[in-house]
Amino acid sequence: MKVDIAVGLAWGDEGKGKCVYSLLRKNSYDIICKASGGPNAGHSFYHNGEKFATHHIPAGVFFNKKSLIGSGCLVYPLKLFEEIENLESRGIKVKDNLLISKNAHIITDAHIKEDRENNKVGSTGTGIMPAYRDKYARCGIRAQEADELKPFLYDQRELHYIDGSILIEGSQGYGLCPDGNNYPFVTSSPPTSTYALHSLGLPPRKVNNIYGISKIYDSYVGSKKFQPDGEIFKKIAEVGKEIGTTTGRRRQVNFLNINLLIEAIRANGVDALIVNKVDVLRQLEVWAVQINGTVVNFENEEEMKNYIEFNVYSVSPYIDTIFSDNPYEI
Ligand code: IMP
Ligand code: MG
Repeated sequence: MKVDIAVGLAWGDEGKGKCVYSLLRKNSYDIICKASGGPNAGHSFYHNGEKFATHHIPAGVFFNKKSLIGSGCLVYPLKLFEEIENLESRGIKVKDNLLISKNAHIITDAHIKEDRENNKVGSTGTGIMPAYRDKYARCGIRAQEADELKPFLYDQRELHYIDGSILIEGSQGYGLCPDGNNYPFVTSSPPTSTYALHSLGLPPRKVNNIYGISKIYDSYVGSKKFQPDGEIFKKIAEVGKEIGTTTGRRRQVNFLNINLLIEAIRANGVDALIVNKVDVLRQLEVWAVQINGTVVNFENEEEMKNYIEFNVYSVSPYIDTIFSDNPYEI
């Protein structure tokens, strides 16, 4: 068994959907698994020339591959079924391929109500915090207790017997990790490669490649102040169409934080770094990053790419860095 993992290195919305889709096109995985998060996530990508957005459902279904929502995930059945019907009506074979771990937890209407009423961090309002709280308070409801999910239930210990390859599709991004430095402006499940393995019950020795996904600038949705003053950040948000897939909220924007990127590469054990949306900065002819609290400007694209590669090289010379435009494939 071999396991590949794709994780977000920033604040979510780095373009994981597009990268996972690309990996699925190029490699033949036996099963695709989501390891954490729930309907707070929003992945978007192009399939046969049409734009799709998914929340619960792993991208494997687009390739007619078994796709698991793992034990570390949350499911809101009403939205899940809406998503299934929507994808099925557009020709995607979801029902034949979707598996839900018996031990995934359920989001209830009460969770959503509570999340929306008491939303200090600017959550996605999808019930994530109360549902994970109840999981750890040992009073949660699991997928195996929801009748409507019966046709999809899966014992994820079956993964141990897969004699092939597994792709784990990460959720959110490193900056939103509840064990990290941005607490309490975080989500409630760790978005790291190590937690992905843990929650799916998979051993670290089986890991083949870890893909870290980032963007050439940072964006964040939530209630802390993130975007500095200045026209340039408004322009980046506009050109980059930085609107949340899940909430439709405008994302705040800043230059790429090199310190966070490097930390995320180290913590996740990244083998290949993908830096998305280079075309956005190209269109604006602005090339800059932030490091140690100051902004570093570059003359041109080449200089900025070299700077990023140099910093990545300092972690390990064996990490590949791939720059990518949007919405093209990697
Ligand atoms: P929650 O996960 O809905 O509780 O939201 C907590 C924080 O994480 C908020 O700042 C959200 O905007 C952010 N967040 C959660 N999921 C995503 C995501 O998939 N992309 C971007 N931000 C997210
Ligand atoms: Mg997203």
